[in-house]
Amino acid sequence: MPPLLLFFLLVIVGTMAWGSLLAAPWVPTLSAQRKLLVDNLVIPPPNPSLSSPNDRLVERLRKEGKKSVTLYDLGCGSGSILFEFASRYPNAKCIGYDVSLLPLFIGAMIKLRHPVRYKNVSLRFGNFFTKHFSDADVVVAFLMQKAYPKFIATLKRELKPHALVAIEAWPLPNIEPIQTINGEKLVPWYVYRGL
Ligand SMILES: C[S@@+](CC[C@H](N)C(=O)[O-])C[C@H]1O[C@@H](n2cnc3c(N)ncnc32)[C@H](O)[C@@H]1O
Repeated sequence: MPPLLLFFLLVIVGTMAWGSLLAAPWVPTLSAQRKLLVDNLVIPPPNPSLSSPNDRLVERLRKEGKKSVTLYDLGCGSGSILFEFASRYPNAKCIGYDVSLLPLFIGAMIKLRHPVRYKNVSLRFGNFFTKHFSDADVVVAFLMQKAYPKFIATLKRELKPHALVAIEAWPLPNIEPIQTINGEKLVPWYVYRGL
């Protein structure tokens, strides 16, 4: 095998293994699973004593006249969830971190094919445990449960009280979700606020 090819293979396999060890292997989120979240994510009123009803993200943004939200996908893989949000909310700032180079490369190719539609999507190489994301309005993640203690500590360090956290598949331990989104033949999304 040519040395350059061997080098690339080692880098791809090595970064995938790194992601698996840190928090989860790359398992793409299904298209229907992504739509389930984007269609149903509810934004509760900032002050629970207000009588204003819970709104879907799109309605809340329109009512508040807010131009943009900032969304992070921690362990974004190929960025498929970010692309789904960016298609639905063209003004949203969509940022993803991953340490695995193959899915990030696939995501970069998707962004290259649709530079206008996905202009607000930023895919970044990096370990999210060491990054700052305190400007997040929404954080999305799909991780192994073994990573939850460190993940929760990272969220508590970074997040503003208003930020929402949407977790795919397995709920965070000992924290009550404000919303659970279920879909037929899909795993649930658990949504939290004020960790
Ligand atoms: C279950 S996959 C998420 C897939 C993604 N939703 C998609 O549709 O492509 C989890 C991802 O988290 C990444 N990951 C795990 N720990 C990480 C860390 N500490 N920093 C950045 N990425 C991490 C893995 O490399 C993997 O790609």
